Amino acid sequence: MTTKIQKTALITGASSGIGLAYALELANKNFRLSLLSLDKTRLLDQQHLFDKEHTQFLSKDLRNPNAVLEISKEVPAPDLIVANAGVTLHGRAGSFDIDKKADLYYLLCGGVIDLIESYLPEMRERRSGRIVIVSSIGALTPMPKSSIYSSAKAGIFAYGRSIHEELKKDNIDVTVSLPGYVRTGAHKRAGLDHLERQIPSWMWITAEQAVRETERASLAKKASIIPGRVYRFARPFLGLNIATRLWGALNRRRITN
Ligand SMILES: NC(=O)c1ccc[n+]([C@@H]2O[C@H](COP(=O)([O-])OP(=O)(O)OC[C@H]3O[C@@H](n4cnc5c(N)ncnc54)[C@H](OP(=O)(O)O)[C@@H]3O)[C@@H](O)[C@H]2O)c1
Repeated sequence: MTTKIQKTALITGASSGIGLAYALELANKNFRLSLLSLDKTRLLDQQHLFDKEHTQFLSKDLRNPNAVLEISKEVPAPDLIVANAGVTLHGRAGSFDIDKKADLYYLLCGGVIDLIESYLPEMRERRSGRIVIVSSIGALTPMPKSSIYSSAKAGIFAYGRSIHEELKKDNIDVTVSLPGYVRTGAHKRAGLDHLERQIPSWMWITAEQAVRETERASLAKKASIIPGRVYRFARPFLGLNIATRLWGALNRRRITN
């Protein structure tokens, strides 16, 4: 018996963590997948988890605008875009050179906008589509020593909630996910492994939980979602001084450079 393929999805940053969990969630729902990451080897290490006939593996450096614009030439407009790829950058304000900051801003914000907008004409014409943007709770709360990261995540959150309103009339649903701490390899990669010991276990959620809650919010046409009950509970207090101090104490980031 052949499996019925219903929908298509493009997921960036699909080699590990949240992106890989998203890909597995959608594969279980018989999506035809285009999975993208920076390092093709790391992505292909996961290919045994997917049905090869219905999965395309692409490698692009999403810090590069030309690479971002190539994607829509290679992948037809999908039913769902999950703009998830990203890295964490930590360090004192003023310690990064212009290229490093520009690369991070493009990867986390400008490139996500370019990717989405390269598909908008087709999605508008089709009058359907879903877009999920993975931002961060750092878009809502101060992140000392991760100021470049949190400001880029705030930028893409602002863009996402704006197009959520704007694209309703075109029947295109946009949801921004704002995860807190998710157990993935991202912190270790950024030299922040001390956070795995420092942050209490109740503040961590799994990538699978982040994906389940994000996908549910997207299907329910919500503008944004903070995965994890503890973060949702904390949201109304995030602007208050006391919460900022508590959050700052829990999140204190060591600088080694
Ligand atoms: N983990 C958390 O606590 C957390 C919290 C809030 C938000 N987030 C956000 O969630 C998203 C996924 O993070 P994660 O924790 O799942 O991290 P992860 O496991 O390190 O995965 C990051 C993914 O992004 C890809 N990527 C990185 N730089 C890229 C580039 N220049 N071009 C193309 N792909 C690139 C990586 O590809 P390669 O493997 O090929 O390098 C990998 O597939 C990020 O946007 C992150 O900011 C994470």
